[in-house]
Amino acid sequence: MHLLILLIAQASISLGLIHPEQIHLSWTSEPNQIRVTWVTYLSAFPKAYYRPILCGNVPSPSNFTAVAAQSTKFLQGNTTHNHYQFIHTALFTDLIPACWYEYQVSNTGVKSKTYIFSGRTPDNSTTFYDVDNAISMVILGDWGSGHIGHFTKYLLEEESKSRNYLGILHMGDIAYDLDTDNGKIGDDYLNMVEPIVASFPYMVEPGNHESFNNYSHYKSRFNMPHNGDNQGTGYFYSLNLGPVHFVLINSNSYFHSSYQTEAEVQTQWLSNDLALANQNREIRPWIVVLMHHPLYCSQQLNDSSIMDNCANQPAVIRPILEDIFYNNSVDLVLQGHVHNYERDAAIYKNLTVNSEFDSQNMHVNANAPIYIESGGAGNYEKNNPVSNTPAPYARYLSSDYGYGRLTAFNTTHMYWEQFSSQALTEIDCVWIIKDRPRY
Ligand SMILES: *[C@@H]1O[C@H](CO)[C@@H](O)[C@H](O)[C@H]1NC(C)=O
Ligand SMILES: *[C@@H]1O[C@H](CO)[C@@H](O)[C@H](O)[C@H]1NC(C)=O
Ligand SMILES: *[C@@H]1O[C@H](CO)[C@@H](O)[C@H](O)[C@H]1NC(C)=O
Ligand SMILES: *[C@@H]1O[C@H](CO)[C@@H](O)[C@H](O)[C@H]1NC(C)=O
Ligand SMILES: *[C@@H]1O[C@H](CO)[C@@H](O)[C@H](O)[C@H]1NC(C)=O
Ligand SMILES: *[C@@H]1O[C@H](CO)[C@@H](O)[C@H](O)[C@H]1NC(C)=O
Ligand SMILES: *[C@@H]1O[C@H](CO)[C@@H](O)[C@H](O)[C@H]1NC(C)=O
Ligand SMILES: *[C@@H]1O[C@H](CO)[C@@H](O)[C@H](O)[C@H]1NC(C)=O
Ligand SMILES: [Fe+2]
Repeated sequence: MHLLILLIAQASISLGLIHPEQIHLSWTSEPNQIRVTWVTYLSAFPKAYYRPILCGNVPSPSNFTAVAAQSTKFLQGNTTHNHYQFIHTALFTDLIPACWYEYQVSNTGVKSKTYIFSGRTPDNSTTFYDVDNAISMVILGDWGSGHIGHFTKYLLEEESKSRNYLGILHMGDIAYDLDTDNGKIGDDYLNMVEPIVASFPYMVEPGNHESFNNYSHYKSRFNMPHNGDNQGTGYFYSLNLGPVHFVLINSNSYFHSSYQTEAEVQTQWLSNDLALANQNREIRPWIVVLMHHPLYCSQQLNDSSIMDNCANQPAVIRPILEDIFYNNSVDLVLQGHVHNYERDAAIYKNLTVNSEFDSQNMHVNANAPIYIESGGAGNYEKNNPVSNTPAPYARYLSSDYGYGRLTAFNTTHMYWEQFSSQALTEIDCVWIIKDRPRY
């Protein structure tokens, strides 16, 4: 009898049914917390364990704290294809910003690799943040598994070793698609990125590729911050990190009449969120909005997909969103969807707006939001060639696979860089500087 159980257990292990996989971290709506989420195909006693290892420069020996997980049985395929997985999630709490932690997750006593994360989390304090402590975020769009996705996985994994950023913001179109092949593509993708996203909070927003079955894969596989209006869907939320207020929204909502109610709730939430952020602008002067569909990118008349993405779709969302961004003095709008890179100047109503000072790689006291599209992390198709008719506001274009990094040094200086995952180097950068408010 015992032997039989042992054999079954052995077989399950070799089948990988109980081994934790697809491990990823995310920040929550509460400060000093990080959530870990992972998957198994059989579930028993899922747990997570964490402990601080270093606080400041002081080693911090302590025992692991065990946290029980919450688990849901998720139907990955369609109802005729009965393929389930268990999605487990656990909270690491009372984190101290100055500490580094290590953790493992386990299922049936089978433990994952050990990963390390920083205790620094978003918080809403209005009186303090460490002015010497710049915040950097990796920002990318349109990333999938497979041959093409590996360019960015390779470079980002290398970069992650130096820990020179705090978290990752993925502007939609994830895996191509999370649900494809009854979810197998989503599983492959989340396993591919695990070495990165198990070590850094991975914050996502939906793109058009996530909408399958009322976003069921998006909502189940990711656990984005809750707020009163998003009902736990993770479609839209904001984060305060150092001197930056980041806002992530679901631009899909504006393209289908079936999402009209969602779209209205989101637009109202966005206006309120930005109005609130403006009340704290002295302390947190930067506002950065991320969305999947671009408001601005250069057209190319002979390319119907570019015309769709850079002319027809902007024609739908500019009238809804542009004035909200402009009136609330948003500094930077980051966008995906088009599979290449285009950095634009400050724009309002389709025209370049001069800053107090502009050069190729610098804007000082911009008078409208600056727009950047970085949707070329590597989808399942090749990237789009760049427009051969760049708009007057375009400053730099590239069709290389790659991703960006935004660093807010302090209340006056932000720095954006774009990396090519093919050339393995930085290809573009811009300083965004301001010494007076625009609102
Ligand atoms: C922090 O502010 C954001 C909005 O910017 C809000 O969604 C969130 O609930 C706030 N968190 C706390 C802990 O107050
Ligand atoms: C860790 O646990 C052991 C055994 O329970 C205990 O003796 C030890 O004091 C603990 N160490 C710390 C740092 O809490
Ligand atoms: C369900 O998934 C299976 C396997 O991919 C597929 O053959 C079948 O057509 C799907 N059924 C429906 C109703 O979509
Ligand atoms: C889609 O999901 C949302 C949020 O989870 C839910 O409120 C809504 O009822 C769902 N719609 C349908 C048609 O299932
Ligand atoms: C559009 O024209 C350019 C040259 O003017 C060419 O390189 C490109 O391949 C064309 N694109 C399409 C989709 O035909
Ligand atoms: C933006 O500000 C202008 C000028 O004050 C005003 O007419 C317009 O209604 C505002 N739009 C939004 C969406 O806030
Ligand atoms: C916006 O400007 C671009 C570049 O100058 C131009 O091609 C396009 O037609 C303009 N779109 C609208 C809606 O005015
Ligand atoms: C802000 O950061 C920039 C870039 O590192 C630096 O040049 C500048 O002196 C800093 N400003 C303040 C007030 O610390
Ligand atoms: Fe897209």
